Amino acid sequence: MSLALAESRSIAQRREAAVAATLAKVRRIERERGVNRDALEAIKRELMGLTADRSLFPPEHFPLNPDGGNVAYRLSEDADHRFALYVSTGKTGRETPPHDHTTWAVIVGIKGKEHNRFYRRADDRSQPGKGRVVEVDRATVEHGTGVTLMPEDIHSIHLEGEPPTLMVHMYGLALDHLHRRVAYNAEDGTYRHFPPNSDIRKPVA
Ligand SMILES: [Fe+2]
Repeated sequence: MSLALAESRSIAQRREAAVAATLAKVRRIERERGVNRDALEAIKRELMGLTADRSLFPPEHFPLNPDGGNVAYRLSEDADHRFALYVSTGKTGRETPPHDHTTWAVIVGIKGKEHNRFYRRADDRSQPGKGRVVEVDRATVEHGTGVTLMPEDIHSIHLEGEPPTLMVHMYGLALDHLHRRVAYNAEDGTYRHFPPNSDIRKPVA
């Protein structure tokens, strides 16, 4: 085995151990404290601890896909699809429309910037397909910072920085099991089904 390959495997093994230790704490926080903003803040602190040492997350392990597109690299997911942890890699300029998650979410930064915009529903929800959102806050996620989202919270993301941008995205339930997410069109006040990112992979090492 080449030295570079051995080094890469050693990093992956140390990362897997750190992820397993973090997940044990995250499961315990949710079990003991439930899903609320304080509990999500505690989960965020654990994820910031996990990502404090960026050498565990070398960009070569999380490349953009061959089309240069976003990939969600799955680092952990329970057998019942709960507690799903991904490194999301993306390129500068990638944006999502305002959307919800239908499960809790915590995002912390590794490399680059993920500008988050937060919205509130501003209509009476009486008309299917219609949904007006109003921006209420912004926060930028980069290394050492993070944001938390309750299941009904609405945000959009906007990437900046030398690609690939690397962010930890953690969800209460795996992305490919979130079938009822919706995305909003802030211009015309409508919403539609928001399918999950279909490019979910294992890290390269
Ligand atoms: Fe999101």
